[in-house]
Amino acid sequence: MPKLLIIITHPNPILRKKSAKIEKADEKTRRLILDMEKTMLEFDGVGLAAPQVGKNIRLIVINTKDGPIAMVNPKITRKSWRKELGEEGCLSLPGVNGNVKRHKKIRAVYCDAKNKKRGIKAEGLLARVIQHEIDHLNGVLFIDYLPAR
Ligand code: NI
Repeated sequence: MPKLLIIITHPNPILRKKSAKIEKADEKTRRLILDMEKTMLEFDGVGLAAPQVGKNIRLIVINTKDGPIAMVNPKITRKSWRKELGEEGCLSLPGVNGNVKRHKKIRAVYCDAKNKKRGIKAEGLLARVIQHEIDHLNGVLFIDYLPAR
């Protein structure tokens, strides 16, 4: 049975480390994916990155209208010139919201839980969530984009 994971919050230094590439998704990775999906849904998140549950590895889960998807070693391959402003929050920054400019459309490649290469085209909220979660793998938080107060 998948279990709930503890979500690490800012300013934990784990959130600021660059995460390592996953050599190959194995049973342990697949268990982590199920736990992360359960945790994301439980806390009403639209996405969750492995560093947020204390693992500095390149893995994210995203909640889509068709259900959760897991992306191992996700990489943005194309991004629209056009950007749009949208409100963001983060399970690692409870109570904080802010408007962030993100590329309106993106394409990304990743491996699924069974190590199959996949691609995704996204726009709007889905594109925003993927950009936000990949930022986590590079130690970047959405507050980094907000004007200094
Ligand atoms: Ni976040």
